[in-house]
Amino acid sequence: MPQLAPTITIENARVVHAPQIHRLVSYWASRTPVLPKSLGQIYENLREFVVALDGDSVAGAAALHIDWADLAEIRSVVVEDGHLAQGIGKHLIERLVEEARVLGIERVFVLTDKPEWFARLGFEPIDKGDLPHKVWRDCVHCPIFTACTEVALARTV
Ligand SMILES: CC(C)(COP(=O)(O)OP(=O)(O)OC[C@H]1O[C@@H](n2cnc3c(N)ncnc32)[C@H](O)[C@@H]1OP(=O)(O)O)[C@@H](O)C(=O)NCCC(=O)NCCS
Repeated sequence: MPQLAPTITIENARVVHAPQIHRLVSYWASRTPVLPKSLGQIYENLREFVVALDGDSVAGAAALHIDWADLAEIRSVVVEDGHLAQGIGKHLIERLVEEARVLGIERVFVLTDKPEWFARLGFEPIDKGDLPHKVWRDCVHCPIFTACTEVALARTV
């Protein structure tokens, strides 16, 4: 994994970061299948988020959402345009996988249109049908539910 630039740190999100996380998620949600989140949803779920900080600036963010005793979802993985391809995405994922390990979770999954990127991080394709909680809780509310192009991948923790 590439070293992060010395100015970048991966940290648990704090309330001061919520508006910047919201801006990043909204930016990518308008361009990719990343699910949009309201600022209220970001605050309510802030303890799920880790951020990549460049000084006071949020250069990337990602969240770990526990689904069940043995399963959690990695979601809202977003990196700021000016910081792409600097290893931030990989380091955010590794931090969340480590958090899952500490929590005693056996497997993490993602729903994504970038399966090749996640495959490089050790994720393997799975059947979406293996994710009933996710599909019925969140996906039915998605505007592109019937034409979804995302695939599911999972990684053992
Ligand atoms: C996907 C995303 C999080 C990657 O973040 P990142 O910080 O640029 O990723 P990293 O720097 O850790 O990895 C970059 C590497 O992945 C490669 N890569 C980038 N996009 C890729 C893709 N779609 N498929 C395969 N590889 C890809 C880059 O070429 C680079 O390769 P290198 O290490 O050999 O140079 C970022 O592009 C992003 O925020 N995209 C928009 C939101 C999104 O789609 N999120 C994921 C959906 S859940």
